[in-house]
Amino acid sequence: MTDTDIAILGLGPMGRALAAAALAAGRSTVVWNRTPQRAAPLVEQGAVLAPSAGDAVAGARVTVACLLDYSAVRACVAPVRDRFGGTLVNLSSGPAAQARAMADWAGQHGIDYLDGAILTPAPTIGTPAATVLYSGARRSYERNRRTLEAFGGTGVHLGEDAGAAAAYEMALLDVFAMSVGGLAHAFALAMAEGIEPAAFARFARGIGAMLPGMADRFADQLTEGRFPADISSIASAGSAMAHVADAATARGIDAAPLRAVQRIVDRAVAAGHGGDSYARLAQLLGEPAA
Ligand SMILES: NC(=O)c1ccc[n+]([C@@H]2O[C@H](COP(=O)([O-])OP(=O)(O)OC[C@H]3O[C@@H](n4cnc5c(N)ncnc54)[C@H](OP(=O)(O)O)[C@@H]3O)[C@@H](O)[C@H]2O)c1
Repeated sequence: MTDTDIAILGLGPMGRALAAAALAAGRSTVVWNRTPQRAAPLVEQGAVLAPSAGDAVAGARVTVACLLDYSAVRACVAPVRDRFGGTLVNLSSGPAAQARAMADWAGQHGIDYLDGAILTPAPTIGTPAATVLYSGARRSYERNRRTLEAFGGTGVHLGEDAGAAAAYEMALLDVFAMSVGGLAHAFALAMAEGIEPAAFARFARGIGAMLPGMADRFADQLTEGRFPADISSIASAGSAMAHVADAATARGIDAAPLRAVQRIVDRAVAAGHGGDSYARLAQLLGEPAA
């Protein structure tokens, strides 16, 4: 029998934000965390601290797992697999293959399962700025949609493939990882050249502002399978990258990230795509290397 709206497993910054949003939306909320002390502020707001993961999931219509990764989720839910009454919604990060394996595992044990990915930081949860992707059985999503709306913002169901949300998250984290790595590298090079961080930031902002337009151009060109270099070609970018790598090396800064991108560019040029736009690199990366 289920008598609680939401159980939250995991009270890291994101789990705490999800629990607080559920409480603010008037949902009866049970929380559980490996380190129970983290629950204290939520208990003051009205949450019930379950003594074990099994007790948390037993009475909940929706159990949201928000832990470090899929192995942490498996470690918490496998021992209590017979106690689920409602749907398990896993919002922890990980590769799509792990999401699909988790869905298979849940199916084998008769647990209704949805996978998901949170695309925005913890402070957005419960506000219009939150974005959460879900994937898996549409029936399960529709049944729990009203409850999940407590997390705010935009909730999108991507389809029946349980791995879809994780696949989006991984590709989006790819953008984030490469961009943050690029930013750190660029600040190191600028500072090595004696440029003040604030003076550099003023111009670095402009590169970030180019990305939304580039994402749309990539999408158009990859959809059409045509890569006209209206603005700048792969060959010209390759030459600029070589200069940056040399400048970094001269300042004793690890140029390996730049050389790695340069290798992709060199491969494109060698394959005769030097005159194409950067979007051609995405297609090339998806093809087996010769
Ligand atoms: N923070 C964000 O803004 C954000 C944004 C988007 C997505 N996410 C995703 O949300 C998930 C949770 O993130 P987070 O920031 O809240 O914190 P986190 O550091 O990724 O995870 C911390 C939580 O995982 C638990 N945990 C870790 N290993 C465990 C294990 N083996 N067994 C049981 N519990 C375990 C921790 O318990 P203890 O407290 O006992 O250590 C804590 O509850 C992650 O997958 C993250 O990628 C987070």
